[in-house]
Amino acid sequence: MNVPSIENCDLRYKAVLLRVDFNVPVRDGEVHDTTRILRALPTIQHLVNAGAKIIIISHFGRPKGKDNNLSLKNIVEILSHLLSKEVKFVDDCVGEKVQRAVNAMDGGDVILLENLRFYREEEQNDANFAKQLAFLADAYVNDAFSCSHRAHASISRITEFLPSYAGFCLQDELKYLEKVISFDAKPITAIVGGAKISTKIKMLIKLAKNVDYLVLGGAIANNFLLFNKVNVGKSFFQNGIDDLLKNIVETANKNNCKVIMPEDVLVSINSDYDTSVSRTTESILDDDVILDIGPQTLSTINSIIASSKTLLWNGPIGVFEHTAFANGTVGVMKVVSDLSHKGKLTSVIGGGDSLSAINAAGLTDKDFTYVSTGGGAFLSWLSGNEMPGVAALQSALD
Ligand code: 3PG
Repeated sequence: MNVPSIENCDLRYKAVLLRVDFNVPVRDGEVHDTTRILRALPTIQHLVNAGAKIIIISHFGRPKGKDNNLSLKNIVEILSHLLSKEVKFVDDCVGEKVQRAVNAMDGGDVILLENLRFYREEEQNDANFAKQLAFLADAYVNDAFSCSHRAHASISRITEFLPSYAGFCLQDELKYLEKVISFDAKPITAIVGGAKISTKIKMLIKLAKNVDYLVLGGAIANNFLLFNKVNVGKSFFQNGIDDLLKNIVETANKNNCKVIMPEDVLVSINSDYDTSVSRTTESILDDDVILDIGPQTLSTINSIIASSKTLLWNGPIGVFEHTAFANGTVGVMKVVSDLSHKGKLTSVIGGGDSLSAINAAGLTDKDFTYVSTGGGAFLSWLSGNEMPGVAALQSALD
């Protein structure tokens, strides 16, 4: 997929509006996972080296108007530290105050502007808001793949007003995700876990058409167990989706895709989730809550992965946040990372909880072929949806 790269353009001494995704997990004012910041560093560093004036813009959370708890001020210190360079913060993202700060910049300086979503015009993809942002700079760089499924002013509309380019993180995402979605290196296994199935139907259909094994985990698997008349006790599932489940199963059958469901599970016997009990799927009791796969299923999944060339993973297999139910997710992750290191498996992981799950397994994004920064964006890409941010950059090529 062709997008205009910052590599091939001269941004020397230009004011560059750099859209990143600093929507990172913050607890008690501390950034809990720096992956998204680290992934933006090569682009920032490239622009610093080119002597550009770098104006970083991002959203943070989903504020309804100005909300001090969702200020990007929380990110400045860690960004400066990781970049080994002073980063100035401006507590607005458009208007006179920002313009003054930009006018005072030298080549190589970096400033971070306040949360774009303090203005509702951002999410409305408002042309005037995009113009106000564009007014600050000579060029625009999108390095936020994980927001590029949003048709927002700083992601798509902005490209109408400035010469626009893709940063290195966005280019990497496109490179790896395109490779894996070409479904070339077979056998291909896809693991789809997580809580909610409703947002994943389109992706499940697409995978059922293209992969050899579709492994179901998390609460998503509960829906399929129930569909197969297995008692899931008090486990979480969604009602009224039988036709969708039928469609997924039929699509898989038609395309020789084997759907792998849990043969055994770990259930919780108290509300503290600190003790797990293993049950076969035939012996689940009415009060049981399924929170992970059992040892037999873990071994089946791991041998399927060992025979695969490509692995695509979205969503945890169990409730890994509780140690008693982390074994499925962590056990599979360790095998995937081991095979990836040995060069036997191309592994691409993405989606909302991926990074926390990887951390819970004591691993990092370096232990896999590629870990996407995308949550919803990863899902959207795998569903085959158009990505407004990517489409906007492509039209900048025309
Ligand atoms: C994400 O965390 O997936 C991105 O930052 C997008 O956030 P959003 O779902 O609030 O648009």
